[in-house]
Amino acid sequence: MLNTKRYLLPWVAGIFLLLFSCQREEPPLSGTFKGLEVPKHFPEPVYRFGENTPTEAGFSLGRKLFYEPLLSKDGSISCGSCHHQEAGFSDPGKAFSEGVNGKLGLRNSPAMANLAWFPSFMADGGINHIEVMPIAPLTDSLEMAESLSSILKKLQGHKTYPQLFEAAFGTDSITDQNLLYALAQFMALMVSANSKYDDLLNGKTTFSLPEERGLTLFREKCASCHQEPLLTDFSFRNNGLDLYSEDPGRARITLQESDRGKFKVPSLRNIAFTAPYMHDGRFNTLSEVLDHYGEGIKSTPNLAPELAALTLSETEKQDLLHFLSTLTDYKYITDTNFSNPQKN
Ligand code: HEC
Ligand code: HEC
Repeated sequence: MLNTKRYLLPWVAGIFLLLFSCQREEPPLSGTFKGLEVPKHFPEPVYRFGENTPTEAGFSLGRKLFYEPLLSKDGSISCGSCHHQEAGFSDPGKAFSEGVNGKLGLRNSPAMANLAWFPSFMADGGINHIEVMPIAPLTDSLEMAESLSSILKKLQGHKTYPQLFEAAFGTDSITDQNLLYALAQFMALMVSANSKYDDLLNGKTTFSLPEERGLTLFREKCASCHQEPLLTDFSFRNNGLDLYSEDPGRARITLQESDRGKFKVPSLRNIAFTAPYMHDGRFNTLSEVLDHYGEGIKSTPNLAPELAALTLSETEKQDLLHFLSTLTDYKYITDTNFSNPQKN
């Protein structure tokens, strides 16, 4: 007769050991850490890191912090709660995201990619540096609702963070600057440049006929704002959503009525996965977006002039949909170096 106890014991011990070691150690990054690699079809990035040279320890710390609910007031929300990797780091299916205590924010959570190329952040461009970007969500009462001083206290008293800051910045006394540096390292290295569209630009693939026709239409009708290859020119434009925009958009920053209803042109990278669309998440599908551009544009005084005469036939819409689906970067949305380290 088998002695089940004898067979089971090492297994049970093994499982305990595994659980224990998982809790203590972060999984290492896959591949060799190379810092920011500028894809060869991209322009030079805006963020040059300055004194914040990326290191493997700094990036890994930034990644851990990005998924750390401790950074919110009640310990329930992390950056990753509203920016989901599998959805291109947007908040899929939600027009507005929930912050602490289930409070809803005022704008749709955007996709995140290629942030090192961004001259400004937010739909109204209210933030102009990647290193200060996290202060807004960390402290906004509708998002993480926490104060920097309280975050620093929590991290300083934590069993692993002081060590991780020491490894990244040479000191275990945690400062707001090092917190922001680590998050900036993680965000700046979130590069998406491996979609079928990128492969086409790099001569590694060819498009189907509908994709090809979609790209031609896109270059004709869309790329003046959604400029290649980042698929945004980062300008603030009114794309005719409302006759009078309740959300002032860029005017919130400039206080100019002529900027009302102008929003930063969003990048369209991974767009098939980032629904709902626009600053308020009003469109649930890309077809609805194209119906808007085809026949829904409102002629507000601030409307971008090139949109006033835009028309799209049903076949053109289909071709554009084919092209837009080539913008999905499956490597990026599944890359374990950007995923929640607790879940690997
Ligand atoms: C409660 C949901 C929520 C949380 C939590 C959250 N964000 Fe966001 N994030 C948003 C929304 C909504 C916007 C768009 C705000 C706007 O445009 O006014 C945004 C915008 C951004 C942008 C600007 C992207 C662009 O296209 O300009 C970045 C970068 C960003 N968040 C990073 C972070 C980081 C880092 C954290 C954690 C420190 C974080 N977010 C936490 C919802 C959230
Ligand atoms: C005049 C500039 C301009 C042109 C031309 C333009 N767009 Fe846009 N687009 C914008 C702006 C600005 C927004 C963001 C509006 C908002 O957030 O409310 C936007 C948003 C979008 C979105 C939603 C993105 C998201 O993440 O929510 C999609 C999809 C889109 N445009 C596709 C297109 C397509 C396809 C065309 C061509 C048929 C096109 N756009 C032409 C300025 C433009």
